[in-house]
Amino acid sequence: MIIAIDGPAASGKGTLSRRLASFYGLRHLDTGTLYRGVAWIMLRDGFEPRDEAAAVKVARAFDPEILGSADLRTPAVGRSASLVAVHEGVRKALFDFQRSFGLQKPGAVLDGRDIGTVIFPDATVKFFITASPEERAQRRYLELRASDEGVTYEGTLAELKRRDERDQSREEAPLKPAAEAEIIDTSKLTPDEVMARAVRIIDNVVRGRT
Ligand code: CDP
Repeated sequence: MIIAIDGPAASGKGTLSRRLASFYGLRHLDTGTLYRGVAWIMLRDGFEPRDEAAAVKVARAFDPEILGSADLRTPAVGRSASLVAVHEGVRKALFDFQRSFGLQKPGAVLDGRDIGTVIFPDATVKFFITASPEERAQRRYLELRASDEGVTYEGTLAELKRRDERDQSREEAPLKPAAEAEIIDTSKLTPDEVMARAVRIIDNVVRGRT
């Protein structure tokens, strides 16, 4: 079983993915951490994220070990991740890792921007998780404020809109719902309500297949 979960920043896809993986006993991969990992190495080694040749080199040599150790959740790394993610060679270099992760037994939940459209167009179930920019900025602001007192709601909203725009308008694997994706707007839902909806949808699909 492969569950593909796509959506913009702070839409709630990470929370849903972790909960679904644990509920169905599947493995979980937050594919954003791969792009964040590449961006983190680029920043550490003094490369410009727009430098395509350097980014492709880093992505090809990518060691997933880095995912556990580096501080990947900072806004600077998020911004750079969306800059390295526009490069076709970077996306190609990370493709096989994502495919083989998902194809191992017993299956997986993968979340990102292009899981249902590019990485697993053959997924068992596809979700597109979204919420209003204001709601997402508020969630991200509260998350960041815990470790950074200088962060503001307005700055977080502006940054999030810039990143949405870049992710949606790029040529390679732009952020958009797959044709058959189930769209859930989490703006007015609790994590429990989102989970309940997703489980109902998955159980219906699985029942229909047996
Ligand atoms: O956690 P948040 O939603 O802020 O971001 P993330 O999921 O960690 O992704 C960071 C950036 O990586 C995104 O803005 C995308 O540009 C890129 N990304 C991508 O292009 N494709 C994916 N499958 C996952 C992330």
